[in-house]
Amino acid sequence: MKVINTVAALKSLLGPIRSAQQKIALVPTMGALHKGHVSLIEVAQQHAEVVVCSIFVNPTQFTDPKDLEKYPRPLEHDMAMLEQCGCDIVFMPSVKEMYPGPENWHIDLGPAEFLLEGEFRRGHYQGVTQIVKKLFDVVSPDIAFFGQKDFQQVLMIQQMVSYFNLSVQIITCPIIREEDGLAMSSRNIHLNAQDRQNALVLSRALYNVKDHFDLGRIPELEAKARQMIEATQGVKLDYFVIVDGLTLEPAELPYGKQLVALVAAKVGETRLIDNMILAEQ
Ligand code: PAF
Repeated sequence: MKVINTVAALKSLLGPIRSAQQKIALVPTMGALHKGHVSLIEVAQQHAEVVVCSIFVNPTQFTDPKDLEKYPRPLEHDMAMLEQCGCDIVFMPSVKEMYPGPENWHIDLGPAEFLLEGEFRRGHYQGVTQIVKKLFDVVSPDIAFFGQKDFQQVLMIQQMVSYFNLSVQIITCPIIREEDGLAMSSRNIHLNAQDRQNALVLSRALYNVKDHFDLGRIPELEAKARQMIEATQGVKLDYFVIVDGLTLEPAELPYGKQLVALVAAKVGETRLIDNMILAEQ
């Protein structure tokens, strides 16, 4: 496994690979890797000859400086995980390398940018799409892999790809859950034993909606899920909604391509998100 820290070194490593017509996959991460990330790398390995995993805690997507400061950075553990799953290249640039000077960035991500996570974390998706665009520029991947857990993030990245008319293919991989249902997340590390237990209400509420899903009962199902979460001590609900998977607007009949339930809540001091696709056509 090669560990690369500069844009120039990565470009010169990837140049001959691209000339040899080998497919390059990118798995962008902020480190603190878990089985969800490993699953992205494993799927990427099935689609491309060379897999690049980037580890970069991107400052421009943090709307709370304290959140950036306390973001976990278990580097040795990450390296061991990547080595073990056979990742080819790790790209680990410094902040200066990715942001050599001040940048004003704004692209039109459409109205969904300001809904749900976008409403709670204003500017977050400008930061996410900014760094993902930069990584795409450096790596020029044929395919890039993202987890469905950050459902809205994938939507915004797809929007950015279409805005710049990029040729990269975006693949969304399923959420990986712990045995008890908790969605894997780098932030789970911050949960104490009680929070960890309380956090289970999020996946339980999602499964409850999925198990009883009926297009005619959406408001009732949303209300039940909110009630379950709000009744759990130590959990502060931000939203639980069933929305159109493309617009993030409230689900209406006839529904579009996809209906998804999205939830965000603060569990103890840690903000968690999760989701579940309810219907697809
Ligand atoms: O999902 C993440 O870890 C980050 O938002 C991403 C896509 C790596 C951009 O910094």
